Amino acid sequence: MNVSRRILVTSALPYANGSIHLGHLVEYLFTDIWVRYLKMRGHDAHYFCADDTHGTPVMIRARQEGIEPEQLIERVSEEHQRDFAAFGIEFDQYHSTHSPENRKWAEFIYQALKDKQHLERRDVEQTYCENDGIFLPDRLVRGTCPRCGAAEQYGDSCEVCSATYETTDLKEPKCSICGTPPVRRSTEHIYVRLADFTDLLRDWTREHLAPEIANSVGSWIKDGLRDWDISRDGPYFGFPIPDEENKYFYVWLDAPIGYIAACDRWCQQNGREVDEFWRDENTEIVHVIGKDIVYFHTLFWPAMLHAAGLNLPSAVHVHGFLRIEGEKMSKSRGTFINAATYLQHLDPQYLRYYYAAKLSAGSDDIDLAFEEFVNRVNAELVNKLANLYSRNLKFIGSRLEGRLGRVSGEGQALVAQAVDAAEEIAAAYERRDLAAAVFKVCQLAEQGNLFLQQAEPWKVAKTEPETARDICTAIANLGLILAIYLKPVLPEMVAKIERMMKVDPLGWQDIDRLVENQEIGEFERLAERIDRKQLDSLVAAAQQEFAGASPEPDLPAHTPLADECSIDDFTKVDLRVAQILTANEVEGADKLLALKLDLGPLGERQVFAGIREAYPDSQSLVGKKVICVANLKPRKMRFGLSEGMVCASGGPKEASDRQVRVIGADPEAQPGDRVS
Ligand code: 2FM
Ligand code: ZN
Repeated sequence: MNVSRRILVTSALPYANGSIHLGHLVEYLFTDIWVRYLKMRGHDAHYFCADDTHGTPVMIRARQEGIEPEQLIERVSEEHQRDFAAFGIEFDQYHSTHSPENRKWAEFIYQALKDKQHLERRDVEQTYCENDGIFLPDRLVRGTCPRCGAAEQYGDSCEVCSATYETTDLKEPKCSICGTPPVRRSTEHIYVRLADFTDLLRDWTREHLAPEIANSVGSWIKDGLRDWDISRDGPYFGFPIPDEENKYFYVWLDAPIGYIAACDRWCQQNGREVDEFWRDENTEIVHVIGKDIVYFHTLFWPAMLHAAGLNLPSAVHVHGFLRIEGEKMSKSRGTFINAATYLQHLDPQYLRYYYAAKLSAGSDDIDLAFEEFVNRVNAELVNKLANLYSRNLKFIGSRLEGRLGRVSGEGQALVAQAVDAAEEIAAAYERRDLAAAVFKVCQLAEQGNLFLQQAEPWKVAKTEPETARDICTAIANLGLILAIYLKPVLPEMVAKIERMMKVDPLGWQDIDRLVENQEIGEFERLAERIDRKQLDSLVAAAQQEFAGASPEPDLPAHTPLADECSIDDFTKVDLRVAQILTANEVEGADKLLALKLDLGPLGERQVFAGIREAYPDSQSLVGKKVICVANLKPRKMRFGLSEGMVCASGGPKEASDRQVRVIGADPEAQPGDRVS
């Protein structure tokens, strides 16, 4: 007997500063399909999600766009929800971490951690950009890898040699926002002593995770759990920490709490109690996540829940990453494909089908291979599945007066076989092996097509129309059973099948209900064949979308950029080493110095630079090697012609005591040398 279970399912909350792309969709489609299955089985199942809105990147992007973070997150939330809806992803509640519910729960959990004395304060050195006036997360510092020397690596790890390091180890670090070298600054942070939860986590991990995940989490536990830094200094877009001065909850503290907040909001709107989900132990909580955020969900999160006396997850399902054509998604190759771009070229049900056909229960990466995508969509979704309905139902409509007969003779065995597969298919869905469920459905569809081919109702109809009608009725009933199995994966296609067959929305309980002796409805097209050219134009469009983006390694979608110029724009700028020959004050301009520069073979230049305040003794600049934009069109100024520009940097533009200093070139370089 199918006992109804209360199940809360979540996907990781997408960051509110980037678009949904095909990589994200692996997770949201997987979860949507699984929850649809659970609901079809009559369970009290709910899919909750939200935008992950807090943190420095959102704050910076809003600043760059000249808007408030609240405006940015509202716009992004609408975009996300539009994309999800277009792919048929149905949440019971899509919420935001910037919500009153989330604030309430974040404060509640924080208080519990505090009351139970799991918190401690500690001074920490952080990377700080004096120009932007903010502490920089590792991802916003770029520099040269201390191990392999690769340029433009993040502050925490190298994408070329995989080394991990401290931001302080990075050579020539630069702030990713403004390009100036950051400094180190000491500040006090609040930490959760994760080691307090070691025993709990060891036991929970063993019981609730797939073995391969439990193994790696187990080894982290064995190595000793490090304290977790949960505070950030302002300015920061997030919730202020109660009773603290200028401190905010770190984005990762309130992100998973967003699961509770979304549930809370849904409960308020649906007359349910949040305690049913988070305090009643009979509830199953299943988080679906990618491999990159296992630490947060299997260590920090259960510890927080435990401290607050809330239910711990029953399972954390970890799926693999998406690769496209065997490789990481790439903007330059056109394989970094946003959901919205995909939708302009291809039917979303292709992707629902393809991902389901590839996603089994483990956490292996899945590959979207274009040739395979085209072949499977055409051979399986269109030829095996959609065709089974279109050939048969069109024929009933055109030659058999649109009326079904009975399931009889050999047709009974065909239908019985499909009914018998219910348990196997349900078991596949239960263990979250979507690929196995789809595979079985395809096998059954193939048998149906074979049956139709051999029974040849189009010939039989000439002499024995009622026999032909029964053949077609068997196929139609097989189709209905397969539609039930497929409904979580292809809900739109199945809705058309329900209309054509004039049946109520199908549920799992309809598997052994025959539909006989009734009229069928108008034929509706189910799925079109896909042409490789459609994929090629999708790739071209995706490439176009990111034309001029940085070469590999790609920036992840959530890394904010200052006003962008393309690499082509940038390489037009001719940067040269220049030696300062003279540096004199300019009468009538208290911010300017007139510099005479030696650019070696390019000759001498006069440049007016706004650096006077930083150099009360302008003569100290003489002899210094600086970097000069050598191909800037000369500009006529009030004081004379300025024939270039020297690179300099200083504090925030609005600061009254702003001092702009020249950026020194390598002292070994010669005037006129190119700077790369
Ligand atoms: O990695 C990410 O994209 C995060 N925004 C996921 C957060 S999941 C949860 F904890 F909220
Ligand atoms: Zn900066």
